[in-house]
Amino acid sequence: MADQQSEVSATEIAVHWQEEEYYEAPASFVAQANLTDPTVYERFSLENFPNYYREFGEMLDWYKPWDTLLDSTNPPFWRWFVGGELNASYNCIDRHLEKNKNKTALYFVPESEHDPIEAITYQELFVRVNELAAYLRDSIGLRRGDRVTVHMPMVAELAVTMLACARLGVIHSVVFGGFSAQACADRVVDSGSTVLITMDGYWRDGKWLDHKEKADQAAALVHEAGRELEKVLIFERHPGEYRSSFSVVDGRDIVVNDVIGQYKGKRVDPERMKAEDTLFLMYTSGSTGKPKAAQHSTGGYLSYVTAMSKYILDVKPTDVYWCMADIGWITGHSFIVYGPLSLGASSIIYEGVPTYPDAGRPWRLAEQMDINIFHTSPTAIRSLRKVGPDEPAKYNYHFKLMVTVGEPIEPDVWRWYYNVVGKREAAVVDTYWQTENGGFLCSTVPALKPMKPGSAGPGVPGIHPVIYDDEGNEIPPGTGKGGNICIRNPWPGSMLGIWGDPDRYVATYYSRYCKDRNSKDWRDWPYFAGDGAMLAADGYFRILGRIDDVINVAGHRLGTKEIESATLKVSGVAEAAVVAAHDEIKGISPEIFVSLQPGVSPSDELGQQIVDSVVREIGPIARPRKVWLVPDLPKTRSGKIMRRVLASISNDSDVGDVTSLANPEIVEAIREMVQR
Ligand code: PRX
Repeated sequence: MADQQSEVSATEIAVHWQEEEYYEAPASFVAQANLTDPTVYERFSLENFPNYYREFGEMLDWYKPWDTLLDSTNPPFWRWFVGGELNASYNCIDRHLEKNKNKTALYFVPESEHDPIEAITYQELFVRVNELAAYLRDSIGLRRGDRVTVHMPMVAELAVTMLACARLGVIHSVVFGGFSAQACADRVVDSGSTVLITMDGYWRDGKWLDHKEKADQAAALVHEAGRELEKVLIFERHPGEYRSSFSVVDGRDIVVNDVIGQYKGKRVDPERMKAEDTLFLMYTSGSTGKPKAAQHSTGGYLSYVTAMSKYILDVKPTDVYWCMADIGWITGHSFIVYGPLSLGASSIIYEGVPTYPDAGRPWRLAEQMDINIFHTSPTAIRSLRKVGPDEPAKYNYHFKLMVTVGEPIEPDVWRWYYNVVGKREAAVVDTYWQTENGGFLCSTVPALKPMKPGSAGPGVPGIHPVIYDDEGNEIPPGTGKGGNICIRNPWPGSMLGIWGDPDRYVATYYSRYCKDRNSKDWRDWPYFAGDGAMLAADGYFRILGRIDDVINVAGHRLGTKEIESATLKVSGVAEAAVVAAHDEIKGISPEIFVSLQPGVSPSDELGQQIVDSVVREIGPIARPRKVWLVPDLPKTRSGKIMRRVLASISNDSDVGDVTSLANPEIVEAIREMVQR
C-alpha cells in the first residue's frame, strides 16, 4: 500500500462530503428507454448468480451455444460461456447486414471542418474489414492467437483494423496514439508482437503530426530489447498521399493503401473463436513500474459491453452516439467500437481535440450529426466549461443520454454538464469502472434510479459491490466512512488475466481480501479494485480515487513509478518522487520532486530535461505540472520516501506530524520552496 498517500486524502474528502440532491431522468427519456423493468435488480440479485448472465450471452449470435455459463473451478481465473463459439467481428458487422446494411456503422469526423465527414455503412465496413483481414492473413501471415500492436490515431482505419484482427482471431493490442515510441516498444515486447500497424500521421489542434517517426523509433527500441518488429504496416491518413517525412524502410515497412487493392472483393470467413479466447490486450498502469496487459475474452467481454451499451447507455440501432474517448483506451474499445457496433448503432470517431477550432465544435458537431448520446470525461467537461461556458446554448442539438467516466466528477461540474450541456433534457450516467473490467461496475440504470451528482450510483445490475475496511470488515451503508471498494462476484466482462503474468493477476486483484486461498467458491474471492469509496445510505457509491501508487491524470491511470523511472534517466538525478497535485482542469496532474546527485547544481535546464524525458518515455499525457529540484526528499527512518508529505505540500494542505522522519527539517525547507 505504498505510503498510503491517497487513503489519507480519501478520508479527508469523505469528511467534507455532503449529500447531494437527486435528479430524476426526464420523462421523455424514460418513455423510450431500453431498460424500465424495476424487477431487474431482483432478477440480478446475488441468489440468482450466475444465471442472470445468460441474458447477456443471449444478446450475441453464437456458432455454437455454451455448455457452462461460468466455470469457476480455478479461482480467480473465471471462464464464461465455456464451450460456446462465436466471432466478435461477425457480431459487430455481419449480423446487421440483412436488415441494416445501408445504415451508417461509423462516422469518421476529421479534425478540420473543411474536410468531409465520412459515413461508413455496415456493408462498407464489412467490405473493408474483409479485405484487410484477407491481406493480414494471406500476405502478412497472421494467424489466430498471434498478437499485433496497433499504434494509431483516431481514424476509421483503427476500428477496421481491430475488427479485421477479431475476424481472424488475431489478438489486437492497441496503444494510445499519443503514447511515446518507448511506450509502444514496451508493449510490442511484452505482448510478443512482430507486426506493428500504424499511420503516417494525423491532425491534432490544427497541426499535422508525423506519426511514422514513432514506429521507426519503436522498431529500434524493440531491437535493443532483443526482439524484432518484422513488419510495420502504414495506413495513409490521406489515401494515395504518403505525407510523413519519414521514409518507408525496405523489407520492413508496407504502405497498406498501396497493396490493399489486390484484395478487392476478398472475403474471410470469421474464425470460430472459443468464448474464452482472448479478443484483445489493453495495457494499464499498476502499482509496480511495468504496465500490464489486461487480457479480455471474446464471449464474456463482448456480451458484457453489449449489455452495458444497451441497458446503461440506452443505445439503440437508431441512435447516433459520440463517445469522445480515444479508442486507445478501454472506453474507446468498449464504447466506440465493440458495444455500439454489436447493437447496430452509428458510432462517431472524431480525430482531433474537442476544442478545435473553437470551443463550440462539439456542440456544432452534435447539431450537425444529430447526435443523441454523448460520452466524455470530467476532464473534458471541465475544460469545455472553462473555454466556452455559453457555447452549448448556441446550438440546436438534443441529447437523450450523457455519460461521464474516468474520475470522480465534482457535483458542481456535474450540474454544469446536466444543465448546460444536457439542457436538462438528458439522463446522465456516471459510470465507474476500469480497464480490467471490460464494462461498468457502478452506474445508475438511467430510467430506474435517480441521478446524484458526484456519485456513480449502485452496482449495475449483476454487479454486487462492497466496501471493506483494512481488516476486511464490511463497512455498512451510510456510515460516512471510506474504505476499499471490491466486487463480491465475478462478471463476464472481467479480464481473463494479466498477459503472461498470472501471479500478478492474483496478487493485484484477488489476494487482498481472499478469504481462503484453497477455496473453489467464488464467494471467497472478492475483486479488489484499488479505489477508495464510500457507500451512502441509499446504496450509491461515491468513488474517492486510487489507493495505490497510481495517479489518475485526465481520467487515465499512470504509474508513479513509470514517471519516476523516466525522471531517473536524466543524468544528475539521484531520487525522484511523483505526487498527484490537484489541478483545475485535469483534476490531477503529476508534480515531481527530485534530489540531485552530489556536485550537480539545480538549473532550469535540468528541470526541462526531466519534463522532456517524461514526455519522451511515456507521452505528453504524463507531462508534469512542475518539477521541484530539492536538496533532499523526506524519508522514514527505514529510507522510504514520504510521498504523502510531498503531496500535502503540493496541495497546500497540512503535512501532519513529521517528527518521526529521518530528516524532518527537509519538510519545512521544501514547503518554503513550494508554497512561497
Ligand atoms: O480510480 C477509478 C477511476 O479510474 C480508474 C480506472 O482507470 P482506467 O483503467 O484508466 O479506466 C478508465 C476508464 C474506465 C478507476 O480505478 N474512475 C473511472 N471511472 C470513474 C472513476 N472514478 C470515479 N468515478 C468514475 N465514474
